[in-house]
Amino acid sequence: MPDYLTLADVDLAGKSVLVRSDLNVPLNDGQVADDFRVRAALPTLETLVAAGADVTVCSHLGRPKGVPDSKLSLRSVATRMNELTRYEVGFDDGGAITVLENTRFAAGETGNDPLTADSLAEGHDLFVQDAFGSVHRAHASTVGVAERLRSVAGPLLDEELRAFRRLTVDPARPYAVVLGGAKVSDKLGVLRELLGKVDRVLIGGGMCFTFLAAKGMSVGTSLVEEDLIDMVKRLMDGPDGRKIILPVDVAVGESFSPDAERRVVDVYAIPDDAMGLDIGPATCSGFRNLIASAMSVFWNGPMGVFEWESFRYGTDFVARAVAASDGFTMAGGGDTVAALRLVGLDDTVSHLSTGGGAGLELLEGKELPGVAVLEKWVE
Ligand code: 3PG
Repeated sequence: MPDYLTLADVDLAGKSVLVRSDLNVPLNDGQVADDFRVRAALPTLETLVAAGADVTVCSHLGRPKGVPDSKLSLRSVATRMNELTRYEVGFDDGGAITVLENTRFAAGETGNDPLTADSLAEGHDLFVQDAFGSVHRAHASTVGVAERLRSVAGPLLDEELRAFRRLTVDPARPYAVVLGGAKVSDKLGVLRELLGKVDRVLIGGGMCFTFLAAKGMSVGTSLVEEDLIDMVKRLMDGPDGRKIILPVDVAVGESFSPDAERRVVDVYAIPDDAMGLDIGPATCSGFRNLIASAMSVFWNGPMGVFEWESFRYGTDFVARAVAASDGFTMAGGGDTVAALRLVGLDDTVSHLSTGGGAGLELLEGKELPGVAVLEKWVE
């Protein structure tokens, strides 16, 4: 892990501090739909204000591609922050904490353009990188600004990196990883790297159908990434293939609809006109036993379409199994955290990560550019 300074290493009183948080939250009708990341970001900002710093916070929201889009303004996030903290939060100017507009409204943000980084850094004495969820991106607000201003890791970033070390450095064994979500393509890299490091990888969610198809099963109208079948096959036939645990039964519906009728079928008997939308009860029991016997558990990705009540069972079940584990448990990714919050079990995992892709890249063993750049400031 690269070295970095933390808040304890710097003087804050009277300093103008720019903080990069990850305030990339889901919105619904222009309102913050899930404030987990907002709540996670606030303690750092409050610490800075209490220490006498003048605090400005920046973040991206969504993927506006360098063009302002009022639907992706951080104004509603600033409003939510105001409701959650005793300090006054201003949008674009003013307040004990000033929230800047979406960094991705600037065309130079994602390309780490020097002028964009210059303008972000201008007028500040110190940069606090606290956006764990964004440090896998080499953007102006994550890397460019940290090259220009003296920079430290914020408490949230530091806490996340320490938690991940429990999985990347000598994890307690058995070590089980539960992967779900719609797409294999999002998780293939991490899966390939993890197979050599973990004892079990339990696969559910939409992505399991590409694995089942690669085993030669017919999966009806379920989501399958045809172009990945060969690669998935090679992984399963490889030296660590036996670590991959697939569902033995799934819940199907007649179409991708919240009103679809839930029907549980064996994975060898998925009807041609049925679509897999959740894992089944036999799979759940098997997954529960493997999770219960593991001493380290990482979970990313829902087991089915958890937003719909009829197909929430698998995700709900796995959430309870992870919550009941005696080992070190970590859950990450927006949907996974939302699923845990939905069933009221978000407090029961050892570490609830604010990162999705960043956490996966860390587990994969990749360097995170937004963290690596902080080393420059270590004397
Ligand atoms: C996330 O939600 O994983 C982070 O905020 C990064 O967002 P991005 O994938 O749009 O860069």
